[in-house]
Amino acid sequence: MSRTVYVNGDYMPESDAKISIFDRGFLMADGVYEVTSVLGGKLIDFDGHAKRLERSLTELDMASPISIEDLLAVHRELVTRNEVVDGLVYLQITRGAPADRDFAFPDPNETPSTIVLFTQNKPGLAQSPAAQKGMKVISIEDIRWGRRDIKTVQLLYPSMGKMMAKKAGADDAWMIQDGHVTEGTSNNAYIVKGNKIITRPTSNEILHGITRAAVLRFAQEAQMEVEERLFTIDEAKEADEAFITSASTFVMPVVEIDGVALGDGSPGRVAPRLREIYLEESMKRAVSSRFTFSAKAF
Ligand code: PDD
Repeated sequence: MSRTVYVNGDYMPESDAKISIFDRGFLMADGVYEVTSVLGGKLIDFDGHAKRLERSLTELDMASPISIEDLLAVHRELVTRNEVVDGLVYLQITRGAPADRDFAFPDPNETPSTIVLFTQNKPGLAQSPAAQKGMKVISIEDIRWGRRDIKTVQLLYPSMGKMMAKKAGADDAWMIQDGHVTEGTSNNAYIVKGNKIITRPTSNEILHGITRAAVLRFAQEAQMEVEERLFTIDEAKEADEAFITSASTFVMPVVEIDGVALGDGSPGRVAPRLREIYLEESMKRAVSSRFTFSAKAF
């Protein structure tokens, strides 16, 4: 089935979607994005993603082409039109397409931002077999830029990291800076020691994960102990458990780091429990998408 996508105010079949070759997202990676998961046709934590999007845009002095209310309407409309039961909504905003390539930012009054959204159908997203088995990670040096808190489309190094992991027979890579784990290529990283969940505090060095914020809140509500501090890769290899969080994986146990098995090499107690709590609680708060959309400017 051809998807319906959204480009600069219009819904269209994916084959009709076109962006200028001068778009700064294409030429300069001058753009930001969000990925929101859909479970049972409902949007998980839309508000969190919308707030982080606003923050990313503000940090880059980029104009938003859409209000939060309209953005929610577009999310719901795409989920409905594409009959997404389980899957993802991808959103990207770039600094638009000026008349020519130039390092300097274009005048936002002359060059409007570009906005595109599309959906990805992923049936059974929450029942991933990987969650039962756990995943393997390798460690690689973190050589990304210094503003990883902004969710930009500069994803070349994370893509290379995934390829390095694949080549090593692993599922993902954890990145290391000054001996300490920053995060996974597309997720936040955690270790568990005893009953304590340890994760790096937010700063410019990591993305402030929306799933991270929710999981830490739910963990504390469930009387689990959370410690936000740096941890080394060696400490991680000696941990009782480890896991990652992201909008597309929720909470996923990590059972091996650089070939070293954690515990008995299978998911422990804490990560699977947190996954359960996260899925249950976020579904309760999720935004329904099955509504009658009243077409207006789009
Ligand atoms: N990635 N850290 C990085 C570097 C990420 O790219 C992501 C998300 C996260 C987790 O953030 P959240 O919980 O808000 O999804 C952490 C998305 C899923 C992606 O690029 O597909």
